[in-house]
Amino acid sequence: MSRYLAMARRQMRDLGWARAAGDFASELLFDVWYGIETWRPRGFWDRKIEGGVWEDLVQYQGANPRIVRKVLGSVDWDPGEAAFVDYGCGKGRVLVLAAEAGFRRLVGLEYVPEVAAICRMNLARAEPWMRRATVAIQQVDAADYVLPSGAVVAFLYNPFRGQTLRRVVERLRGHARKHPLLVAYVNPLGLAEFTVAGFQVVGRWECRGRLEAVTLRVRDGESLANSAPVGMGSLGPGGSG
Ligand SMILES: C[S@@+](CC[C@H](N)C(=O)[O-])C[C@H]1O[C@@H](n2cnc3c(N)ncnc32)[C@H](O)[C@@H]1O
Repeated sequence: MSRYLAMARRQMRDLGWARAAGDFASELLFDVWYGIETWRPRGFWDRKIEGGVWEDLVQYQGANPRIVRKVLGSVDWDPGEAAFVDYGCGKGRVLVLAAEAGFRRLVGLEYVPEVAAICRMNLARAEPWMRRATVAIQQVDAADYVLPSGAVVAFLYNPFRGQTLRRVVERLRGHARKHPLLVAYVNPLGLAEFTVAGFQVVGRWECRGRLEAVTLRVRDGESLANSAPVGMGSLGPGGSG
């Protein structure tokens, strides 16, 4: 309980109480609207000692719909043409938001079996509002996931760090050599792993001087596949605040 209170305090400090309270209210409303449960955080601190994936894993907490809608709204690719992959999809909130934004091929990767089960249940409940999107929830270590060929929007809400993050960045870098790839990273605490690997920030969102989210692509000239796919425009500049 004290960890959750500490998380709430951190939100207040980073966003200011008015926005933190507004964000919390919007998360509850989101759940009520779709008839799902995504608002409650879930920690796995006791599993850390097991090492491996558990050591790198960040607890479940859903990304706020406000920032996710802003980030997805900045993507001017045709969402019907790109696969959307949520790395660490938790209870599925971002997959619902991606369907709302028009993405039709959705993949959610979740390591923790009980969280993946909640995600499947939530998506079954939200199905009438998912605009005929197809969703595949895979209960796997995201670092082992092989991306489908073609254009991909890869979403991360600070899901993991360390070796797991490095392995995922490597895979994404490999995908970008052959296919168009855009990375949307909310609370980008591991941003340096991406920039070191040759990604550049193409959109950024800040709140009270704190970086809330970025979009990334492989640096120009490093990948032929990095240009927008046929039928898709380029990425618009990211707003702030
Ligand atoms: C901060 S939550 C984000 C949830 C979701 N993207 C959202 O914003 O609603 C991070 C999630 O990533 C999952 N996760 C962490 N490491 C993982 C891994 N290696 N493979 C798959 N899922 C992982 C956690 O279990 C947790 O549910």
